[in-house]
Amino acid sequence: MFNLNNKIFEKRRETFLNKLDGKAAIIPAASLVKHHADCEYPFRQDSNFWYLTGFDEPDAIALFLSHKPKGERFILFVSPKDVVSEVWHGFRWGIEGAEQKFKADKAHSIYDIKELLPIYIEGSDEIVFSIGKHPRIEKVVLEIFTQQLENRSRVGIGGNSIKSPESYLNEMRLIKSEFEINRMREAIQISAEAHELVRESISLKNNERQIQGLIEGFFLEKGARGPAYNSIVASGDNACVLHYTSNNSPLNKRDLLLVDAGCSLTDYYNGDITRTIPIGGKFSKEQKYIYEIVLDAQKNAINSAVIGSNSSTVHNVALKTLVEGLKEIGLLRGSTEEIIDNGLYKHLYMHRTGHWLGLDVHDVGAYRMGDYEVPLQYGMILTVEPGIYISDRIPVPDGQPSIDEKWKGIGIRIEDDILVTDKEPEILSISALKEIADLEF
Ligand code: GLY
Ligand code: MN
Ligand code: MN
Repeated sequence: MFNLNNKIFEKRRETFLNKLDGKAAIIPAASLVKHHADCEYPFRQDSNFWYLTGFDEPDAIALFLSHKPKGERFILFVSPKDVVSEVWHGFRWGIEGAEQKFKADKAHSIYDIKELLPIYIEGSDEIVFSIGKHPRIEKVVLEIFTQQLENRSRVGIGGNSIKSPESYLNEMRLIKSEFEINRMREAIQISAEAHELVRESISLKNNERQIQGLIEGFFLEKGARGPAYNSIVASGDNACVLHYTSNNSPLNKRDLLLVDAGCSLTDYYNGDITRTIPIGGKFSKEQKYIYEIVLDAQKNAINSAVIGSNSSTVHNVALKTLVEGLKEIGLLRGSTEEIIDNGLYKHLYMHRTGHWLGLDVHDVGAYRMGDYEVPLQYGMILTVEPGIYISDRIPVPDGQPSIDEKWKGIGIRIEDDILVTDKEPEILSISALKEIADLEF
């Protein structure tokens, strides 16, 4: 379970404030989102706001004022305490709580933001704010900015642009601290155990929906907030739909079951794991061929996730193994280089091999900057998730072999979560088994 450790958040704020170097950042919390009528989706805090504050209420705003002296730099605007509202919607920390528990240098009611924001921003070099993401406060920010531009035209000092906070925060969030690595270990371990539960109980289940219930119930039982993203429980040909989330087909013993699921902890760290298992306990000859190719590609790609490598290399290693394996069984034809350069494999493998993983499932951080590939460093966490999806949804490219019926309806992805270390890559999701011998029964 999450225990607020202010030292962690204070350190992040200090790093962020140093990067701001005279600028003032406005970082809003998320709002509740309507599901239907007067019902809302479960609250999900904005990841940047969370990363800097650890404050889990909607409609707050944090200010980071690097132009002010120490002790006046971290300001929180929060919903004030309100007995009636708390009876309906639950506990709030209120203004005092924001200062005492969350260590704001000063806290105010969110209702005072319009009046106080210009005063706090005054004297900063520039505003840092994400345009287009927070409509409720954006109008106020733009009014202040317009005023800054007017002042600048008269007295020659003051803000001249609005900068995005992402350029600072993405860089910070991409490299996980030891604390974050441990939180990720926990999220990924719970996720891996859920996959093991599926493997162990598959013979007793007869519908995708039961598997979803099993996994998501396990996440809650372990104290997680719930699934990190909509769980994908896809049997047979459903697995060829990459974002299949209907999860309502009966299970057929001759099919494979692809499960892409991970939990989100109460402090929002996420797991993201995919396993593909034989529902009836045995792979068919064709299923086994494809599984071996994907597993081989995944292992090669994981081995390439070392310091100094980069995400394109990891992808290219997986892709080369997939293409060569598919050539061997007659599903692709031609030189490997030509197939890859011309995208002639994309009817069978149509996504990248992985992404950063952290507070967001597709976590922030650049993969490349133009032609420059961001090198892997200690503390980066990425998924490695090659797959092969054989259906007739995407036409076979000219010159490539048509697909025999015996292959159709096979969709396989294997996804692990990898920590880049000083030595070999560490597979954080290793306890979810994936060798054929472990999956058959
Ligand atoms: N579960 C989403 C993904 O694998 O990227
Ligand atoms: Mn993923
Ligand atoms: Mn996934």
